[in-house]
Amino acid sequence: MNKNRRPVIAGNWKMNKTRDEALQFIYTITPELPKNTDVETVICSSPVLLRCLVKRQGENLRIGAQTMHQSESGAFTGEVSPVILKNSGVEYVIIGHSERRAYFNETDETVNQKVLAALKHDIIAIACCGETLEERESNKTEDVIKRQVVAMMNTIPADAAKEVIIAYEPIWAIGTGKTATKEMAEETCGFVRNVIEQLYGKAVSDKIRILYGGSVTPANVSELLAQTNIDGALVGGASLDSENFLKLVKAAK
Ligand code: PGA
Repeated sequence: MNKNRRPVIAGNWKMNKTRDEALQFIYTITPELPKNTDVETVICSSPVLLRCLVKRQGENLRIGAQTMHQSESGAFTGEVSPVILKNSGVEYVIIGHSERRAYFNETDETVNQKVLAALKHDIIAIACCGETLEERESNKTEDVIKRQVVAMMNTIPADAAKEVIIAYEPIWAIGTGKTATKEMAEETCGFVRNVIEQLYGKAVSDKIRILYGGSVTPANVSELLAQTNIDGALVGGASLDSENFLKLVKAAK
């Protein structure tokens, strides 16, 4: 972490938690969360729960969606638009998660369109990148990450670019219990920052927040957050338990 960049801990609940479970979680964590000025704490829930959770969001807790469509409205059955999210009080959205890329046809191009749409509607995008195990083992990590990051930032001007949060999530580490070592995570997050510097210069690369994601737990969060280029975490499994999630947020403080 770097004291000039506010840390972010974002929980990605994926397709988990009923309304009752979600409310119980929010009531448990809210009194214990640090101030938003210390840690930006975000919970990204199922779209069905967003409205109900937004009503309980406070200074120290923000609510996000896990995906959205790039169009403002239209005949896209089952989708949610940035206009609908914003109007419901949602302030963050995860874009291009590897599960969306793998199972729901998200491409570098749609990820870029969605980041642009989020910026246009003043929603903070948490835009994801990450390599497969095969790509890492054949030394293609940097090529893949560079391609994904350059594509997601395509046509985004510098003043907007620094508001985007990038999450580096090696696919082989997601939900597998295999975290990247702190050295590996730092090296690749640093590489992402270099790509941003090449695109926009240091004023943007020094400001943009880069998160690590992939089997982050209370046991490994501190050593990951101690790395210069890691500004927080995007967390799946460990965000489902209120006690674990609180430990992650407190570690970031
Ligand atoms: P995990 O998921 O923490 O369960 O590995 C991370 C993510 O998918 O964002």
